[in-house]
Amino acid sequence: MIDIKQVRNDFPMLHGKQMQGCDLIYFDNAATTFKPNAVRDAIDYYYTDMTCNAHRGDYDLSYRVDSAYEGARTKIARFLHAQSKEIVFTSGASESLNLVAWGYRRKFVREGDIVLTSESEHASCVLPWMHVCQENGAILSFMKLDAHGRIDVEALKQMMSEKVKVIALAMITNVLGHEAPIKEICALAHAYGAIVVVDGAQSVPHMPINVTELDCDFLAFSGHKMCGPTGIGVLYGKYALLDAMEPLTFGGGSNARYDMCGNILLKNPPFKFESGTPNIEGVLGLGAAVDYLDAIGMEQIHAYELELHRYIIEALLKMDNIIVYNADAQSAIITFNVKGVFAQDGATYFNAHGIAVRSGLHCAKLLLDFLDTSATIRASLYFYNTKEEADRFLDVCAKANMQSCLDVYF
Ligand SMILES: Cc1ncc(COP(=O)(O)O)c(C=O)c1O
Repeated sequence: MIDIKQVRNDFPMLHGKQMQGCDLIYFDNAATTFKPNAVRDAIDYYYTDMTCNAHRGDYDLSYRVDSAYEGARTKIARFLHAQSKEIVFTSGASESLNLVAWGYRRKFVREGDIVLTSESEHASCVLPWMHVCQENGAILSFMKLDAHGRIDVEALKQMMSEKVKVIALAMITNVLGHEAPIKEICALAHAYGAIVVVDGAQSVPHMPINVTELDCDFLAFSGHKMCGPTGIGVLYGKYALLDAMEPLTFGGGSNARYDMCGNILLKNPPFKFESGTPNIEGVLGLGAAVDYLDAIGMEQIHAYELELHRYIIEALLKMDNIIVYNADAQSAIITFNVKGVFAQDGATYFNAHGIAVRSGLHCAKLLLDFLDTSATIRASLYFYNTKEEADRFLDVCAKANMQSCLDVYF
């Protein structure tokens, strides 16, 4: 059980914050999450008591930073059931996903090869491959979705062939919040010699993840969606694949030596992908976030969020004025519209009641044809949200209609 009172005490953003004269309810956690004191303290400690560069100094202070930095890598590896050498620090999920697509493009994806993705993916999962395919003459194809917007695995089986080199998809999609059967998809892909690149931006923050059990080849995620700082993310990759992959950036820290004839000897992964002074505060902050989440327990977090999600969905389904697009999703994402109201006007109405939700296309522009709407409202939960907040949100939902949404402008 989550001790919600204790948890909320850890987050300064959950206290005394108002929006439009109402107590703030933050239901935009899929965009970014609040940060607990432990994360702020870790960053503060680095700047107050331990400032120096990482991996560069020969003095005690720098050894302390090195060990804290590599300690964070080890924590994250343990969190995912991976090895430390398989954890690459990036600026976020977008960079991680780009790193694989660009790092893979020359050796592994050639003219006529197929990369599979889906219409429900975030732009950061689709666009790197779209670009690489355009450059290489490879073919970007879209996996079929079932009537609910989930990956249709039976249809995927029909699409598989030796030509398929990559399947790129989210473990939990950011609009419909459906969980893909990653383990099954990995087994299928591997039978054809393809790799699976998992976008974990909306799954790693919310549920236990075991990359060894899933057998995924790559997993990308962002620190800021899991209580960590912005500007830090992770690419997990199987070591042999990281070893074979090209880096995107070159510079200090990532090379072992080079000469004037143009010979460059890169370090082994993960260091060959981390050129330049790293985001030290980000890494230490993410390490503290992982410690924080681990102490609560990812199983507990997942169970708590699913219960709150179900509570809200069941109430919304009883309201004639609300269209829910993902009633059966098993995640913290609720995507809906107020009947007859444009999504942005709906979000403005919620703002007028102190509730932060997101509206629009949510960086998944291909999905709207599937949903047959121009935009949606997304309420996304995290483990620090409460049933009391859900009740206030539901009250506001119950009163939403064309007139009440218009009234907030006057
Ligand atoms: C499913 C998914 N993938 C990728 C991203 C990109 O994450 P970032 O903007 O932190 O790089 C997001 C962000 O919303 C996301 O929801």
